[in-house]
Amino acid sequence: MAQIFSPAADTWLRLFLLGSLAITAGGTVGIVGFARSSYVTSTDFRPSQPVPFSHRHHAGELGIDCRYCHSGVETAPQAGLPPTETCMTCHSQIWLNASMLEPVRQSLAENQPIQWTRVARLPDYVFFRHDVHIAMGVGCASCHGRIDQMALTYRAKPFTMDFCLDCHRDPAPNLRPRDHITDMGWKPPANARAEGEAIAAHENIRFGELTHCYVCHR
Ligand code: HEC
Ligand code: HEC
Ligand code: HEC
Ligand code: HEC
Ligand code: HEC
Repeated sequence: MAQIFSPAADTWLRLFLLGSLAITAGGTVGIVGFARSSYVTSTDFRPSQPVPFSHRHHAGELGIDCRYCHSGVETAPQAGLPPTETCMTCHSQIWLNASMLEPVRQSLAENQPIQWTRVARLPDYVFFRHDVHIAMGVGCASCHGRIDQMALTYRAKPFTMDFCLDCHRDPAPNLRPRDHITDMGWKPPANARAEGEAIAAHENIRFGELTHCYVCHR
């Protein structure tokens, strides 16, 4: 059957409905306050996981680079979660019998991925890709916070439209050299804006266009 609405039209219909809802409901400060609270934007939400995986231990103390486990992040829209085999490169030798790792062994034996509870998610009417951000010099910490200090992973920043737009309006001061992309302790230099503008010029960043609706809703 012929498709009457393009996928983009469908996105816009949903945005329109959400938008009108927001306007009807937006009358009271209370509701606006509620919508901006961490309940809705889910920061600090620490779900229990099948295995108590610790970024603090693995990425922080052991110093394993993010890309070892999230291998898609530079080359694909999605960073991806590591397959169980990645855990086994180490855990077939260490902590072999720990009961904490039972779900990992079971996943391997049954050839079923571990069912992690996701903490970083956007609604499906928002378009996002990692590779472009990484290539332009936006570090993981700018959007995910200090993952290397988290015993259990949580969402450190609210993924609201304002959060995205704040940077899209003026990305330069948030850019860093490519070789520090996963460096959690990186601090912007005193002349962050000038350095960022140099990176932006080199990467040809399309200033001014980045706040257009179709960048994130298409
Ligand atoms: C590069 C090696 C390496 C990889 C890869 C690795 N681990 Fe570990 N993991 C360790 C070491 C080392 C320890 C700490 C043992 C100790 O000293 O207590 C550890 C400890 C743990 C613990 C015990 C709790 C803690 O953090 O102290 C859990 C649970 C765990 N790992 C889960 C995983 C899972 C799940 C994966 C795959 C997503 C994974 N690990 C991948 C090296 C690794
Ligand atoms: C040893 C493997 C490993 C390393 C190294 C690692 N991660 Fe993870 N990461 C995981 C696993 C397993 C999960 C799923 C469980 C969880 O949420 O803790 C995860 C989840 C995440 C999530 C949440 C995804 C979601 O939607 O639930 C983010 C964000 C993340 N990692 C970022 C990072 C960053 C940034 C680094 C580098 C500082 C890093 N990771 C290093 C294994 C790893
Ligand atoms: C510009 C912001 C931004 C940057 C920079 C960023 N992320 Fe993400 N990340 C997100 C958003 C937004 C999501 C949720 C995507 C979705 O639901 O479609 C996400 C999701 C994830 C997930 C869950 C799996 C997935 O791919 O959806 C992992 C793991 C992750 N990020 C790791 C990383 C790592 C590692 C880095 C640095 C190398 C990084 N991210 C840099 C915004 C960012
Ligand atoms: C800290 C800065 C920063 C944050 C935060 C950020 N972005 Fe970006 N974004 C950029 C830069 C820089 C570019 C690259 C611009 C270019 O290619 O000219 C970009 C490009 C994009 C693109 C274009 C991808 C393409 O196909 O070219 C999309 C889509 C996007 N961002 C979505 C998002 C969303 C959704 C969020 C919030 C969850 C977000 N961004 C948060 C800096 C940021
Ligand atoms: C840089 C990315 C980005 C751009 C550009 C952007 N949006 Fe959004 N938009 C988002 C994100 C992320 C959400 C989801 C917010 C949430 O879940 O709280 C969103 C949500 C929405 C919603 C749902 C209701 C709400 O307010 O949460 C509407 C309506 C909307 N956007 C309209 C627009 C319009 C109109 C434009 C152009 C003027 C636009 N957006 C530009 C990222 C963007």
